[in-house]
Amino acid sequence: MDKNKQAVFITGGTSGIGFSLVEKYIQEGFFVVINYCNGGKNISIVIDKLLISGYVENKDYIFFRADITNESELTNLFTSIDSSIIEKICICINNAGILKRGSILELNQSDWVDVFNVNVFGVVNVSKLIATKCKNLNNIVNIGSIRGEPAISRTNNIAYSISKSTIPTLTAVMAKSFGPQIRVNSILPGTIDTPQRQGISEEELELYGESNTICSRLGKPEEIAELCFFITSKKSSYITGSSFVIDGGYTVNYIK
Ligand SMILES: NC(=O)c1ccc[n+]([C@@H]2O[C@H](COP(=O)([O-])OP(=O)(O)OC[C@H]3O[C@@H](n4cnc5c(N)ncnc54)[C@H](OP(=O)(O)O)[C@@H]3O)[C@@H](O)[C@H]2O)c1
Repeated sequence: MDKNKQAVFITGGTSGIGFSLVEKYIQEGFFVVINYCNGGKNISIVIDKLLISGYVENKDYIFFRADITNESELTNLFTSIDSSIIEKICICINNAGILKRGSILELNQSDWVDVFNVNVFGVVNVSKLIATKCKNLNNIVNIGSIRGEPAISRTNNIAYSISKSTIPTLTAVMAKSFGPQIRVNSILPGTIDTPQRQGISEEELELYGESNTICSRLGKPEEIAELCFFITSKKSSYITGSSFVIDGGYTVNYIK
C-alpha cells in the first residue's frame, strides 16, 4: 500500500452497491478494505473486474472476511489487518445488508434475528470497532433504505423495513456520540439494480419498481457511490447526523 494513500473500510463490498463503492473509492485514490462474509465465489469476479481497470490486490485493496454479526470474531479478525492500513482508515461505510421476504404472519423469530443481526447490530459492531481502533477515522456512512420510512415500508419485507427504520436514528445518535471528529450520515436508497432485487416478481416491480419513480428507471449502484463519495468528502464538511433519500423520486411520487 502506498504510504500516502488514505484507506476506506467497506462492509459487503463484493456485490451490488458495495462493489460500486469499492470501485469509486479506488478510482479516487483510496486503498480499500473490502469486507465480505459468505461470498467466496464473488472474490475472483471482484479481482478480475478490478484488474481490468489496472487495480491489484494488496496494492489497491485487500479482502477482509468477517461476519459483522459476530462482534468477537470481527474484533479478533481485525487484528490480522496490517497496522499501517488500520492507521490510514479514515472512512467506514456500513453497506452490508440482507433481506428476508415475508409478512408478520410468515416470518419467524429467527428470521427477524438474522435480519436485525446484519442490518442493525452489524452496523453497531463495525462502527464501534472502527471508531475505537482507527484513530484517523473522520466519516461513517450507514446504508439504510427508503423501506424504513413508515409510508414506504413493505408488508412482505417487514423485518427488513423495520431494521432499516432504525438507521436514521442510529445515524443521528452516532453523529452526536462521535462528533465533531467523526461525521456520521446515512443514505436511504430506493430500488437499485443489484443482486438483492433479483427474484422480485414482475408484479412487484410494477408496483414498487421503476414505473413508480419520477426518473422512470431503477437506480444504479454507481449513483449511490457518487452520493456517498460526496458525503465523505471535505465538500460536505458541515453535514452530519443526516439521512439522504436517493430514489429517483419514488418517495415523493408514492401517493399521487
Ligand atoms: N438493492 C437495492 O435495491 C437496495 C435498496 C435500498 C437499500 N439497499 C441496501 O444497500 C445495501 C447493499 O445492497 P445490495 O443490493 O448491494 O446487496 P447485495 O448485492 O445483496 O450485497 C450484500 C453484501 O452484504 C454482505 N453481507 C451480508 N451479510 C453479511 C455479514 N454477516 N457480514 C459481512 N457482510 C455481509 C454480502 O457479502 P457475502 O455475499 O460475502 O455474504 C454482500 O457483499 C444493503 O444494506 C441493502 O439493504 C439496497
